[in-house]
Amino acid sequence: MKEKLEGIKKEALALIENADKMDKLNEVKVAYLGKKGQLTALLKGMKNIAPEERPAFGQMVNEVRSHLENVLDEKKTALAKAAREAQMKAECIDVTLPARKQAAGHRHPNHVALDEVERIFIGMGYEVVEGPEVEYDYYNFEALNIPANHPAKDEQDTFYITDKILLRTQTSPVQVRTMEKHPLPIRMIAPGRVFRSDEVDATHSPSFHQIEGMVIDKNITFADLKGTLQQFAKEMFGEDTKVKFRPHHFPFTEPSAEVDVTCFKCHGKGCRFCKGEGWIEILGCGMIHPRVLEMSGIDPNEYSGFAFGVGLERIALLKYEIDDMRLLYENDIRFLKQF
Ligand code: DAH
Repeated sequence: MKEKLEGIKKEALALIENADKMDKLNEVKVAYLGKKGQLTALLKGMKNIAPEERPAFGQMVNEVRSHLENVLDEKKTALAKAAREAQMKAECIDVTLPARKQAAGHRHPNHVALDEVERIFIGMGYEVVEGPEVEYDYYNFEALNIPANHPAKDEQDTFYITDKILLRTQTSPVQVRTMEKHPLPIRMIAPGRVFRSDEVDATHSPSFHQIEGMVIDKNITFADLKGTLQQFAKEMFGEDTKVKFRPHHFPFTEPSAEVDVTCFKCHGKGCRFCKGEGWIEILGCGMIHPRVLEMSGIDPNEYSGFAFGVGLERIALLKYEIDDMRLLYENDIRFLKQF
């Protein structure tokens, strides 16, 4: 019996020593110290020993039991510590590694140009207002003195939704909406998207942007219009920029003009950029037609005003020397991040 006890002790110690996981350790505990374990079985076998030897043997078994219990406890603590250390190691973060860079995106060249235009006009006391992209025929044409049979209403150039509603072909309808509800005097610019049924090429797109401008007050003259646009051109394209007003026709202004600026590349000498002209057209403008004022409830004998419409893409292309408008819409990040 004694040898058997020694054998059990040796076996159990070896198993504990080799246990590399908690559950293995538990298996050993159950197998040797449990109710049906080997030590318990040994105690049950005491009836085979001479009665006088029983107490001594019982004490030996108990000593082995408590020794095994101690060793098990120590091993348990050691395993728990090792597991904790492994976890710490696995979850460790190297805070000295360089961070991954966030791609923060970039303002679109159209937007950079628009911000500049807004900055200039806000500096002259203008408000920035907006109007809807889906517009009534009345605001887009009729109230701008473009009657039903006018060629500017050509079906070919316009996206109609119904015969009364369309995608606005210009930002000029915002003039009318502002005249209707804004107290006088008015100084506003209205940037926004416009739509025309155009084929896509280097200078055309079915959707582009304009910036409308309008001033209405007492005693506004063509001189105010000239001075304003001259100042705008200088701030936008450089102090030495000259402006030229060419007579033109728009139904909602009288007189009307188109405005050219000296080519900012050759300063008027003529170059590849301005196709040898020395001048580049940037906008349409004029004195608001008395009939347009009247239709929106403003007395043309008391008030007068001027208006202008700038193509935003045209300004962006000029300012950043981009030679194809399509680049502005493709949103290729390699292109956009240059501005
Ligand atoms: N709306 C015109 C266009 O799209 C541009 C324009 C011309 C706007 C003269 C104006 C203006 O306000 O006075 O061609």
